[in-house]
Amino acid sequence: MPHGALTLSQFILRQEYTHPEASGEFTSLLMEVALAAKMINRLVVRAGLVDILGLTGDENIHGEQVQRLDVFAHDTLHRILGSTGQLAVLASEEDEGIVAVPQGERVGKYVVNFDPLDGSSNLDANVNVGTIFSILPRITRKGSGTLEDCLQPGYRQLAAGYVMYGSSTMLVYTTGDGVHGFTFEPSIGEFMLSHPDIRTPQRGHIYSANEGNYQSWPEGIKRYVDWLKMEDAPSGRPYSGRYIGSLVADFHRNLLYGGIFIYPGTGKNPRGKLRVLYEGAPLAFIAEQAGGAASDGQRRLMDITPGSLHERTPLYLGSADDVRECVEFINNRHPAIAAERRAGSRTA
Ligand code: AHG
Ligand code: MN
Ligand code: MN
Repeated sequence: MPHGALTLSQFILRQEYTHPEASGEFTSLLMEVALAAKMINRLVVRAGLVDILGLTGDENIHGEQVQRLDVFAHDTLHRILGSTGQLAVLASEEDEGIVAVPQGERVGKYVVNFDPLDGSSNLDANVNVGTIFSILPRITRKGSGTLEDCLQPGYRQLAAGYVMYGSSTMLVYTTGDGVHGFTFEPSIGEFMLSHPDIRTPQRGHIYSANEGNYQSWPEGIKRYVDWLKMEDAPSGRPYSGRYIGSLVADFHRNLLYGGIFIYPGTGKNPRGKLRVLYEGAPLAFIAEQAGGAASDGQRRLMDITPGSLHERTPLYLGSADDVRECVEFINNRHPAIAAERRAGSRTA
């Protein structure tokens, strides 16, 4: 480990000094997120060994099989974050309604929306899974937080981040002052700064999409993906297709290498599968802070004010040039479309 490598807490405290508006309460909340991540990590990385694998037999409100680790991750985040005294309310992918601060705990001024375990259907195959979190200021003035406190647009976020569990567990977050990555060092139980100020390439050469849904995609997306596959060296096409099926893992790779993650509306999920509050908005914040972009095809993803906790959205996320071109195809205004009309052929 390089000497002078900073721990997460040392880094956050330094940021606190340089940002007088950052409060000690906010710092302690971030540290508690890291504590919860360490507790979840401890089970995820040995899931194959301890009898934690497998399904609870329940279905969550999305009709998805609930993995026991989903429940453990949810309960850990609820217990740890709820006892910081910093939260007014929480919202989780695993609970239909808002999650009140545990009984008897002090109510604070922040809100955390989270996906306790993202990609959990991949767990049994030892594929990277993650936790995604979004921290907002409460809107209501007093008492326990409400649904209104959770349903805020992404541009109101104070912080957002994800933890990716695996052979090398990482925590990546932003507070609006760049994106910073920390790698977990189990021997000392600390997240160590390993990726300061992450910048995503302006353009990548990777696209991530579940092409099993191709037939039910909107026409513009079909054209876009067909166009990405065409041979055109000057524009770096064909792109490489890379799809893990864990949003956190696909996003993390594309953040570092450049590229675009695509989850359009499909026959099964006409508004897309991924949720605004605890998947789209936090990753959009990180993408933008790293120089990238995020859209639902019509709007900047962070401008969406969700009408419900689990509202889904089409998601186009990653390198700025790639997201811009994808949105141009969706809205039928990419130059290649006019060119193909003149040539009398359809793109690809
Ligand atoms: P979660 O496990 O939190 O429900 O999220 C799963 C999501 C996301 O991780 C991934 O990108 C997407 O589901 C994959 O969906 P498909 O299997 O439909 O491609
Ligand atoms: Mn998820
Ligand atoms: Mn999940």
